[in-house]
Amino acid sequence: MSLFSKIKRRIQSLTEASDLNPMVNAAIRRAADKLSEDPKVIVTVGSGLSAESGVPTFRGPDGIFYNATISRLTHVDTFLSDQREEMMRWYQDRREKLSSIEPNPGHFALVGLAMTGDYTISTQNVDHLLEAASDELGFRPEIHHLHGSLLQVRCHECGASFEDLRLDLGVLPACAQCGGPLRPGVVWFGENLPEEALERSLHAAKEADVCLILGTSGLVYPAASIPEVAKKFGATLIEVNPNHTALSDLSDIVIRGKTGEILPELLRRTEEAR
Ligand code: OAD
Repeated sequence: MSLFSKIKRRIQSLTEASDLNPMVNAAIRRAADKLSEDPKVIVTVGSGLSAESGVPTFRGPDGIFYNATISRLTHVDTFLSDQREEMMRWYQDRREKLSSIEPNPGHFALVGLAMTGDYTISTQNVDHLLEAASDELGFRPEIHHLHGSLLQVRCHECGASFEDLRLDLGVLPACAQCGGPLRPGVVWFGENLPEEALERSLHAAKEADVCLILGTSGLVYPAASIPEVAKKFGATLIEVNPNHTALSDLSDIVIRGKTGEILPELLRRTEEAR
């Protein structure tokens, strides 16, 4: 069985074919034509890609930032305050939920697209769903986590880091090496992004012929600057999102819909157009 058939079967097992309206159909066709020309592609991923796996987005009607407490819990100052325990319990809860979520058709189709050419994926998501889809399909594309990973634990003092989902951060464990406080390996507001992930993403953006913008509001910088840089250096911007975003007007092709429904169709048509 070819790799593409394998992906198709996996996607079909997860989803029903949906009817796409003519405007969406036309936009997918244009995007597929572009992607079939073997371009260099930078992909900017946001929380919308994991929404259909049951991971809530940050903004919008179902977004967790509607809850003011939660937006406070993602700032480094909260970790340094007397609210550290509340913050770590919230993160521990999110870490525990990771073991019950699974990649959706959007993740599988994105990995499928990445198999067809030169793709660099730059994600703001702190879950492991792209990696899970990659491992299941047997192909791991270049993926950079701009906002870190919930699977990782890091010492806030000495920076020692390791992958461990079983460790309970809610009990405020200390670092075995220096005694400093352990925390999730994510980036909080008030902190810098991992240098290498950002540099490689920006480099790929400058080299790219196409920038795919998937499920992000485009409001958080520097991640949102990746499509801007790609555009400045001549890339065609393709957005997939059910809603208008801060990057919609900059985009050359806008596909209005959920990534779990659009990306499988985009993959199918890109293969057809090749
Ligand atoms: P946002 O919550 O800001 O935006 C989510 C986007 O996903 C919106 O544009 C939605 O329209 C879109 N969306 C919802 N469901 C979708 C679906 N099924 N398919 C495709 N798109 C869908 O999330 P991000 O842009 O990822 O940072 O937010 C960026 C950063 O803001 C996060 O990484 C996080 C947060 O603060 C940190 O915590 C540092």
